[in-house]
Amino acid sequence: MKAPQIRTAIALMTATLLCGCGGEHFQSVLHPASPEAGEISRLWWFMLAVCGTVFVIVIALLIVAIGRRGNRKPQAPGGDAKFVLIGGMLIPGIILFVLLIYSISAKVVLTGDERNLTIQVIGHQWWWEVRYPNQDIVIANEIYIPVGEPVRLQLKSADVIHSFWVPNLHGKMDMLPEHINTFWIRADKPGVYRGQCAEFCGAQHAWMAFEVVALSTNDFQQWVSERRKLAVEQVASAERKFSHEVYMRVGCGQCHAIKGTSAVAQIGPDLTHFGSRRTIGAGLMTNNTETLTRWILAPQKMKPGNLMPHTKLTDEELQELVAYLTSLK
Ligand code: CUA
Repeated sequence: MKAPQIRTAIALMTATLLCGCGGEHFQSVLHPASPEAGEISRLWWFMLAVCGTVFVIVIALLIVAIGRRGNRKPQAPGGDAKFVLIGGMLIPGIILFVLLIYSISAKVVLTGDERNLTIQVIGHQWWWEVRYPNQDIVIANEIYIPVGEPVRLQLKSADVIHSFWVPNLHGKMDMLPEHINTFWIRADKPGVYRGQCAEFCGAQHAWMAFEVVALSTNDFQQWVSERRKLAVEQVASAERKFSHEVYMRVGCGQCHAIKGTSAVAQIGPDLTHFGSRRTIGAGLMTNNTETLTRWILAPQKMKPGNLMPHTKLTDEELQELVAYLTSLK
């Protein structure tokens, strides 16, 4: 490689390394927002320091060995055996034991009690159903939680095995089809924390993302009461009745429920609060009229293999549908 090529290669590598450091919301083990994630992060740094030191020593020894090639003095028989025993078995054994003890003693177990909020999260290929059984709220691909307190998650899957992971808040937990895994998360400060399915679950596994939105206790209470109020109010107006007829006629109602209406199917995400949704397609795009239009017109082009079929619509129907869905807060 010539000098300009080397410079380009270094610039590209640096950019790749640093691209995980910026952005509006991190998805990173190294930016913990809870005590549990903090412990995981400390463990990570400790392992990096130990393994990095070992790496440097091994490479230094290798360089010395290469340099000495050919001018080696004859050694007493068995002289190497001691070095191999200590350097190759005893020292690595001690290091691995220390790492094992630290990993086991890391305090990443979080639990709460009956007073804490319970949220059911159900993994689907490839989106997240989010239910608040005691608040009677159903949303998708985002989880609102109050800040500073443990939240109980009941995790399961509707199809294959998925894995729930919000690196800034906690470690991973599997989501299984036949079994509920209880898991607790907590966020120390308000913010948006990106989560990601961490178990390969099919073609769109990479686009099975979600967001945890941590709100102050007051804001969270307000969010809950608003959602409950809106779910009742927004189906009452005459204008929405017409939009809803279009929604049912073109077939959306066969898969997507809207609370308080004749749409009750639960194959796809519940759309009762669709207008307040932050993303479309489980983290694929920001939710706005333009992306929603693109999604309705060509869901298979945007996220191939998902269950959403191509729908034949007139321009008027499309406009009506987009306006209706974005109005559902
Ligand atoms: Cu769900 Cu990977």
